[in-house]
Amino acid sequence: MTNARSTTAHQPEAIKMLIADHREVEKLYKQFEKLSDGAEDQKEAIIAHVCAALLAHAQLEEQIFYPTVKERIKDSDLIDEAEVEHQSAKDLIAKLQAGDLDNEKRDATFKVLCEYIMHHVQEEEHELFPEVSKSKEIDFDALSEEMSELRISLDEEAEKTEAQLLKTVGRKKA
Ligand SMILES: [Fe+2]
Ligand SMILES: [Fe+2]
Repeated sequence: MTNARSTTAHQPEAIKMLIADHREVEKLYKQFEKLSDGAEDQKEAIIAHVCAALLAHAQLEEQIFYPTVKERIKDSDLIDEAEVEHQSAKDLIAKLQAGDLDNEKRDATFKVLCEYIMHHVQEEEHELFPEVSKSKEIDFDALSEEMSELRISLDEEAEKTEAQLLKTVGRKKA
């Protein structure tokens, strides 16, 4: 993790943007782990925010980043793997969105989601992003511009998703 952070200065903007999202999710997950059993409001807020942020981040990667880099890196299998991992993460998020889990199952599902995401993030930062960074065929300025533009509508969407999630993840007793 420290490694990835110390190298961000030399990364293209598009990658820095994605890494910043990764750090944010990690930070919130660490906060979640420190919360006591009774801290329901705070737990719900973190779950809703992280899930909404992950959906936005996944879409940013799937819609622009992955397709742009896929044919321009040596190991395009990394993108296929990443897409499968995104789908598994979305399946876990859908379980949280459905809102029919009791609080213990909800917390367990969220933890599994975050652990899974941490693994995915490691692969992106240690395998995929270094490959992308060294590609000479990618127009990084155009890529980051395109991503920044999509980001605006994704952030708006994420706010709505977060508000919906706050309703569904809250206060189900076993
Ligand atoms: Fe990512
Ligand atoms: Fe990803």
